[in-house]
Amino acid sequence: MTMATDAAQAITRERDALGERLFGALLGGMELLTVELGVRAGLYRALRDGGHATADELADRAGLTERYAREWLEQQATAGIVEVSAQGGPATRRYVLPEGHAEALLEVESSGYMSAAAPTLVGLAKILESVAAAYRSGEGVGYARYGAEIRHGIGDFNRPMFANELASEWLPSLGELHTRLRSGAAVRVLDVACGTGWSSIALARACPGAQVDGIDLDEASIVDARRNAAAAGVADRVRFEVGDAAALDREGGYELVCIFEALHDMGDPVGALRRIRGLLARGAPLLVVDERVAQSFTAPGDEIERLYYAWSVLHCLPATLAESPKIAHGTVLRTDTVRQWARDAGYASVEVLSVANDFWRFYRLDA
Ligand SMILES: C[S@@+](CC[C@H](N)C(=O)[O-])C[C@H]1O[C@@H](n2cnc3c(N)ncnc32)[C@H](O)[C@@H]1O
Repeated sequence: MTMATDAAQAITRERDALGERLFGALLGGMELLTVELGVRAGLYRALRDGGHATADELADRAGLTERYAREWLEQQATAGIVEVSAQGGPATRRYVLPEGHAEALLEVESSGYMSAAAPTLVGLAKILESVAAAYRSGEGVGYARYGAEIRHGIGDFNRPMFANELASEWLPSLGELHTRLRSGAAVRVLDVACGTGWSSIALARACPGAQVDGIDLDEASIVDARRNAAAAGVADRVRFEVGDAAALDREGGYELVCIFEALHDMGDPVGALRRIRGLLARGAPLLVVDERVAQSFTAPGDEIERLYYAWSVLHCLPATLAESPKIAHGTVLRTDTVRQWARDAGYASVEVLSVANDFWRFYRLDA
């Protein structure tokens, strides 16, 4: 009787713990969507740029109706994202966006920028039905079908790391090559699977004499990358092309090749590594940057493990399966697998570089 009661109580505790967790996730997810709404409707920008505002003033600045602005401001204040700066009734209460929050929400190259999380959630939700259908059919869902939100979400999530860490922390880990890269020497650098181009732009800025070539399989990413490089003023030194990393057919002699957060996405990662090996100048490294996951399967996992498995089931695995069902690795790329792939592709060594980063691990592959 007691044992049966204990078991029943344990089940209730289990149920309630998961229930609480899911409720927290609902709250977080919904608030993330209100953040995206605030970005898209220009509400945060108008509040930051114009300072303290009533709902009516903010609506005026953002070109919206007062009723919508008022509800959103009340919700945002309730959620602790904007603050009430002067108490009053619904018409007279004033709000302000705290400086640190404005940075996290609007400063795309700040190391604390985090609102790229919001379009990502929108993009993943939009494609969910197709992903569920793919689970039934066993087919893939191509990267392009995930659309602009995912493309920009990934690009903008990674952009602050490229802007703030690549020149000061990542390239210095390459030893002597770093001195040459920043000297203004006319080096050639290849950025494989460059996405929307922020890494190629950061490479061009960090290596003032470099010609940077960026390639990616996704056409829309290459269109974005060209536009981003032009806006960044480096289009004369950064060239982008659509291409498959496993079928690269170009002149070699690159003094540095990089793959940022994309090896695990490739349909034929070993083929890609092999091709790249043939493009490296003598003594030149391939820098592979991929997820900083645990060394082996760990359940339950920490936040990083959970994040990357969630990416894997919702996006990377379906997208990679659409490219090729042969390896279809998924997001969770562990060190042992990188070493195995590098060996299979004919590299002589793989070094894990001591670069501090919460999300990524850095590998130097030498031919
Ligand atoms: C997670 S995104 C990373 C993009 C970019 N490197 C960054 O860090 O923001 C993965 C990228 O790999 C690209 N990709 C996947 N398979 C590829 C392949 N076989 N050849 C070239 N690019 C590929 C996708 O199109 C996508 O842009």
